[in-house]
Amino acid sequence: NLPATYDGPVHIAVIGGTGLSKLEGYVPVAALNPTTPWGSPSSPLMIFEHNGHAVAFLARHGLYHQLAPHEVPARANIAALRSIGVRTIIAFSAVGSLREEIKPMDFVIPDQIIDRTKGIRPFTFYEGGVVGHVGFADPFDAGLAQVVEKCASAMKGDGVVLHNKGTIICMEGPAFSTRAESHMYRSWGGSVINMSALPEAKLAREAELAYQMICMATDYDCWRDEAGEDVDVAMVMKYMAANGENAKHLVGAVLDELLKQDNSDLVLAKKWQGSAQGAVKFM
Ligand code: ADE
Repeated sequence: NLPATYDGPVHIAVIGGTGLSKLEGYVPVAALNPTTPWGSPSSPLMIFEHNGHAVAFLARHGLYHQLAPHEVPARANIAALRSIGVRTIIAFSAVGSLREEIKPMDFVIPDQIIDRTKGIRPFTFYEGGVVGHVGFADPFDAGLAQVVEKCASAMKGDGVVLHNKGTIICMEGPAFSTRAESHMYRSWGGSVINMSALPEAKLAREAELAYQMICMATDYDCWRDEAGEDVDVAMVMKYMAANGENAKHLVGAVLDELLKQDNSDLVLAKKWQGSAQGAVKFM
């Protein structure tokens, strides 16, 4: 029974993945249900307020975790957030670790992605006569990465371990990788693996939004042959639950830090212009 409209500007959004559905320290004040030319988003856009600032929250897999990674309406999600004024997205994801030193419960701020989705998911706003090619050499926003790094460093005392670089392998799923694939991804230099970084990051770039993913390791996938602990859903859920508080605190701290900055339309428009040359001007 929250209002379905919200008057103020909402420039910052969090996309929550498996196990992250609340914003620490923020109070829900509205639940918006925008429709877009690409359909409805995965979940209502929950608007939360804290110290007079608003933040939008979107549950990537739906309110009841009913959407598999390949079913997430990523274009509707990004377009819906853009339509309410969002310019900055912090996206959260559980990931498998492809490196010994990235242990379950560690956080990773990725700076690169290797696309192993299979072209099944609609992955661009450019079609039907609208042609454009955005730069995607650096798929994440370095400024946002710095903010996350600062906040995570301040949480070292709570046992938070952060890796401030890394390459995500984004696979199609929903089945996990074969052992041979897992070894191959390691040989490619992959640090972590998930099913959700794409096309989300690409669409955010096309829509001229600053986007950074925060990853939390929940398993070692299946490359540690001798360990006998191949990834399964129970393992992912167990570590998400065990580290959920840290994940919530980290996202809360990142939001507080972002809201200290000037997030007015003009400043943000200036800041991100050029990061997405030739992006779609659709809203
Ligand atoms: N998400 C969490 N763990 C994963 C894994 N091992 N592979 C793909 N996606 C994941």
